Amino acid sequence: MKKVISVVGARPNFMKVAPIHRAFTSLNENNYNNNHIEHLIVHTGQHYDFNMSYAFIRDLELPQPDYFLGVGSGTHSEQTAKIMIQFEKVVQKEKPDLIIVVGDVNSTIACGLVAAKQLIPLAHIEAGLRSFDRTMPEEINRVLTDKISKYLFITEKSAYRNLINEGADVDNIFFVGNTMIDSLIFAKNKIDNLNFLNNNNLEKDEYVVVTLHRPSNVDNRESLEMFYDIFEYLSNLKKIIFPVHPRTTKKMKEFDIYNKYISLKNLQMVEPLNYIDFLTCMMNAYFVMTDSGGIQEETTYLDIPCITLRTTTERPITIELGTNRLINPQPEIIKFEINNILKKRPKRITMPPLWDGNAGNRIARIIATNILN
Ligand code: UD1
Repeated sequence: MKKVISVVGARPNFMKVAPIHRAFTSLNENNYNNNHIEHLIVHTGQHYDFNMSYAFIRDLELPQPDYFLGVGSGTHSEQTAKIMIQFEKVVQKEKPDLIIVVGDVNSTIACGLVAAKQLIPLAHIEAGLRSFDRTMPEEINRVLTDKISKYLFITEKSAYRNLINEGADVDNIFFVGNTMIDSLIFAKNKIDNLNFLNNNNLEKDEYVVVTLHRPSNVDNRESLEMFYDIFEYLSNLKKIIFPVHPRTTKKMKEFDIYNKYISLKNLQMVEPLNYIDFLTCMMNAYFVMTDSGGIQEETTYLDIPCITLRTTTERPITIELGTNRLINPQPEIIKFEINNILKKRPKRITMPPLWDGNAGNRIARIIATNILN
């Protein structure tokens, strides 16, 4: 029997690990390759609010994590260091044959470093994505995690080029598709459109979803004032639903601008939505405006126009084939783009290759056949 540990920590991690967990369970049930793989899940506790964490475990039918490290918030160094200290204890006790980390959050690099120092082979899911913007904490996490990972599982072809350019071993790069899309396909069956729209007083195609949480967009007053101006403009054209990230709420209150937002007519500020509700919210929207990474991919799959409020993206396939538009967050440029989309909704050219709901199965099979045989 072999043992694998997967790490979850922050909201976007749960949907990337759930399909891998399901795939290992299914391989074990079918006695695949005569190779039983015990799959443990460690939750670092980087995100801890119910809506940011356990609501996702429930919606994705993940088991309760085998370990919860409870590290919580802090500066980047504090958070990363706390995760490393706690995760090292788990690794020393469990002695896994392989550690899997996903995405680009602080939990990814922290646990990746522990694996590398303990000489445990490391697999990175969603490897090779690059924004080439080192002011983004996630970019540092991506580059460093890939450097110390032995096995690199990629979601799109740009990742292959990036990894090869950085000297990765071609034999250890596996193009498997996108586990986040596996989760979306899994959860789509559970969606009750009417219920969600009625409960939130929304009508299909008659509203816009906005999310904002990047430090560059929410950690300073000028930027929050600028977005207020955009919300005011947009709210005259469409209803807006804005599930507010805890970081953003905190900053709005700190800069004393929260009440101004709350009082805007046609703007519905709500707590972070659970996974199923958020998918429902996106798939019925006229368009989505966001600074998230994952939402660029989810809207591509759903064929819903997306304005990404950033100057770079690590997910270029969503622009080449999809409905994503990268928009420098400046008021006149955003307003111009809003009007473009209201006049004519862009459509996806074609689905990115291998975004078919089977990425988790491919990963589990490669691990069972090529890595841990
Ligand atoms: C993290 C990830 C980011 C990801 C995002 C998704 C890093 C560097 N960033 O950013 O890539 O897109 O998660 O949400 O890992 N907080 C709560 N409750 C929670 C979680 C956080 O109140 O459950 C508060 C914290 O106290 C902190 C702030 O939100 O003040 C930021 O949390 P943190 O995990 O540090 O980073 P995110 O901005 O969420």
